[in-house]
Amino acid sequence: MSNRYAVVLAAGQGTRMKSKLYKVLHPVMGRPMVQHVVDQLNKLELDKLITVVGFGAEKVKDQLGDNSQYVIQEEQLGTGHAVLQAEDLLENEEGTTIVVSGDTPLLTHKTLEALLNHHDKEGAKATVLTAEAPDPTGYGRVIRNDADEVQRIVEQKDASKEELAVKEINTGTYCFDNKSLFETLKQVSNDNAQGEYYLPDVLEILKQANEKISVFQTGDFDETIGVNDRVALSQAEKLMKKRINEHHMRNGVTITDPENTYIGPDVAIEQDVVVYPGSIINGHTVIKTEAVIGPHTEIDNCTVGSETVIRQSVAKDSAIGNRVQIGPFAHIRPQANIGNEVKIGNFVEVKKATLDDQSKVSHLSYIGDAEVGKGVNIGCGTITVNYDGQNKHLTKIGDDAFIGCNSNLIAPVTVGKGAYVAAGSTINQDVPDEALSIARARQTNKEEYAKKINKQKKD
Ligand code: UD1
Ligand code: MG
Repeated sequence: MSNRYAVVLAAGQGTRMKSKLYKVLHPVMGRPMVQHVVDQLNKLELDKLITVVGFGAEKVKDQLGDNSQYVIQEEQLGTGHAVLQAEDLLENEEGTTIVVSGDTPLLTHKTLEALLNHHDKEGAKATVLTAEAPDPTGYGRVIRNDADEVQRIVEQKDASKEELAVKEINTGTYCFDNKSLFETLKQVSNDNAQGEYYLPDVLEILKQANEKISVFQTGDFDETIGVNDRVALSQAEKLMKKRINEHHMRNGVTITDPENTYIGPDVAIEQDVVVYPGSIINGHTVIKTEAVIGPHTEIDNCTVGSETVIRQSVAKDSAIGNRVQIGPFAHIRPQANIGNEVKIGNFVEVKKATLDDQSKVSHLSYIGDAEVGKGVNIGCGTITVNYDGQNKHLTKIGDDAFIGCNSNLIAPVTVGKGAYVAAGSTINQDVPDEALSIARARQTNKEEYAKKINKQKKD
């Protein structure tokens, strides 16, 4: 196998996106488009991977990090000019260079590998990946000669009426003999409707020099879509969502309404998990077997234990144990560490808090900056008063403690093991183990007092 190099084109601003965010950084299922492209390329055995950056160069570099080398295209003079920026890093190399646009996020390494193999087998100087588009508007059209060989590629803006009717499109992905590529790029002119140096013109120049150029047509247009505007972005999102959901369903996950379920590319889900509609699962989330997620639940970067049920809730950057019940309408904020068989009910917010096994916070509570032991029962409306306006403080609640309804625990404070806090208490001193603490105004009953008022009302 000859040496293999890749060039990713990612310097354009993406004017048609009408966005502050550079085009190739727009996410598809939570991952920037250019990252999808580079991830697939990295699965091939490449000797070099070079990304051409320009608009938003620093941001693109931050995103891709060490996964790529970089060259800068100062002025965006076209895709041919963009590839030429890699000249210093590549021109003396023998081998094959694959060029991919940073705006084709659905391309798979399998197709790229098949393209490379086809190119090698044909012994071509250039091979273009093409597809039949149901609606080719906006793409470069592949113009074939009488012998059915590719003659050239014509851009939408330069095409005649007949050429516009062609449905075979240039996907923007090519293999080149590396040396021929850089020699030919210097001959590309910008004499066209957009005044740009078009990379596809390399094919026509090679053809005219009687070099062999080849076509590799994929049967799957969807995989090749180029995202130039938000309409295409939504199509890419839909296709990626389908691809990811089908992968999980084939692995034994039940997704009752895949159209309305959004699972990011880094999420791992075990067998026999059920995901109900309206759920959005992102980040490096791991969901263990037989968990039930949704409906209408957002989970980002969490581990969720087996047989845990999370309904109509939001959870982020947290660890949730086995057989836990969360929701409806609970909010698990970052750094929550929830043990096994814990119950977190409606309108409960948990932040930076540990709740050990079998503890319950069933209704309307805020548990923030807290360490809650095992088997603790936290009554409805309990609040850990963690913030004094300047600093956050810790609340500790020992194993098997019982916190009565509507209590305020003013941190820093500790409620001991097996202690009881009476309902309605405002606790600002530590409660010893097994003590009962009552911190509320004593009740007075004024006998027959209401009778007088009731009589006055009648008169
Ligand atoms: C390009 C192809 C078209 C093909 C389509 C497939 C050309 C001239 N046209 O059109 O034939 O059907 O892709 O999706 O190549 N870029 C740079 N520097 C530049 C210009 C562009 O790095 O000076 C980058 C962009 O960031 C983008 C990629 O190259 O990632 C393609 O550019 P784009 O403007 O999207 O080209 P298309 O109009 O889609
Ligand atoms: Mg494009």
